[in-house]
Amino acid sequence: MILSTPRLDLRELTEQDLPALRAILQDAETMAAYEGAFDEQGVRDWLQRMRDRYRNDGFGMWAVVLRETGEMIGQCGLTLQHIMGVDVIEVGYLFNRAHWHRGYAVEAAAACRDHAFGSLGANRVYAQVRDTNLPSMNVAIRLGMTVRGRFVKHYRGVDMPHLAFAIDRDDRHHGG
Ligand SMILES: CC(C)(COP(=O)(O)OP(=O)(O)OC[C@H]1O[C@@H](n2cnc3c(N)ncnc32)[C@H](O)[C@@H]1OP(=O)(O)O)[C@@H](O)C(=O)NCCC(=O)NCCS
Repeated sequence: MILSTPRLDLRELTEQDLPALRAILQDAETMAAYEGAFDEQGVRDWLQRMRDRYRNDGFGMWAVVLRETGEMIGQCGLTLQHIMGVDVIEVGYLFNRAHWHRGYAVEAAAACRDHAFGSLGANRVYAQVRDTNLPSMNVAIRLGMTVRGRFVKHYRGVDMPHLAFAIDRDDRHHGG
């Protein structure tokens, strides 16, 4: 177990999570900000990248398990990213659509943010959000983050304007 919150447990993704991962990564609405659903190879490559991150960095996007049912309902975690010319640590969140609007994303992401400041000693935690992705911006705002800049990300052959949200270690007591 990596992290626990009142309702959720975060642990590493495994092969057993492939069906739950497909339900997230192959859902067109969930993946709108990523320019659409992944095919089977895209899902397997995603899982492999996360396992590589666990091994190389010690963290990545983790499985979010609803403790009450044991169901894997989403992914949330920390990844190393290169944003606006700087190597940074980012909190990411992607949930199964059946489990949106219950506060799970903020609950999981807040635990990841605190883990980054605490165990990992980060001074700043980012969230890069596509400029069309209002639900994701609301999560970032609820994490106490503010907009630090704008940039264009090239992903899957598309230019995507993004906002760089972040919270600093010293901001923590002012934010959510
Ligand atoms: C981004 C994403 C995780 C946000 O999901 P979400 O359900 O809006 O966020 P939360 O789980 O934190 O839930 C917050 C909502 O639940 C409501 N809520 C209900 N019960 C709640 C509770 N017990 N505690 C807290 N909030 C609760 C809040 O009021 C809030 O509603 P609002 O946003 O309409 O005001 C989701 O939209 C998603 O998976 N998107 C696709 C992937 C993606 O784009 N990821 C981000 C890439 S940058």
